[in-house]
Amino acid sequence: MLHRVIYASEAVGAVGASTLSIAQILGVSERNNRRDHLTSCVMFHQGHILQAIEGQRADVDRLIRRLLDDPRHSGFRILIDAPISARRIHEPMGLCGDPAALLERVGLNCLSRVTANEAEALLDIRKAA
Ligand SMILES: Cc1cc2nc3c(=O)[nH]c(=O)nc-3n(C[C@H](O)[C@H](O)[C@H](O)COP(=O)(O)O)c2cc1C
Repeated sequence: MLHRVIYASEAVGAVGASTLSIAQILGVSERNNRRDHLTSCVMFHQGHILQAIEGQRADVDRLIRRLLDDPRHSGFRILIDAPISARRIHEPMGLCGDPAALLERVGLNCLSRVTANEAEALLDIRKAA
């Protein structure tokens, strides 16, 4: 059974603000997620992080345990954790290229209080942005 988890967190220091810090996360994630048949996409915006993860329960849970241990972010909060019939994300690790534009399309200017519905909406429209 496939599951989707979407969580939000807060970047620690300059994580997500520098190309290097993002490249480090994307590199490891691409490799691990491919191995674990996970698909994912992540958004960094003004110190806030939003990530969607899809895959088998055990694989998703293993990644969440690593994420909870990762000192590069804090305030981990799960917005959505639900079984799904099909994936909406098809790459091991995608990066949202223009977070401000995407947020604007769902009427947000910040991720600090993003809701489950808004997170799903962002996932729906991310390709069209
Ligand atoms: C915002 C953020 C998103 C991350 N996303 C993933 C991910 O999708 N997959 C992954 O394997 N690691 C991800 N990581 C890294 C993990 O927290 C952890 O450092 C990594 O999985 C450890 O991999 P390793 O055991 O191969 O060294 C992410 C880290 C951060 C800060």
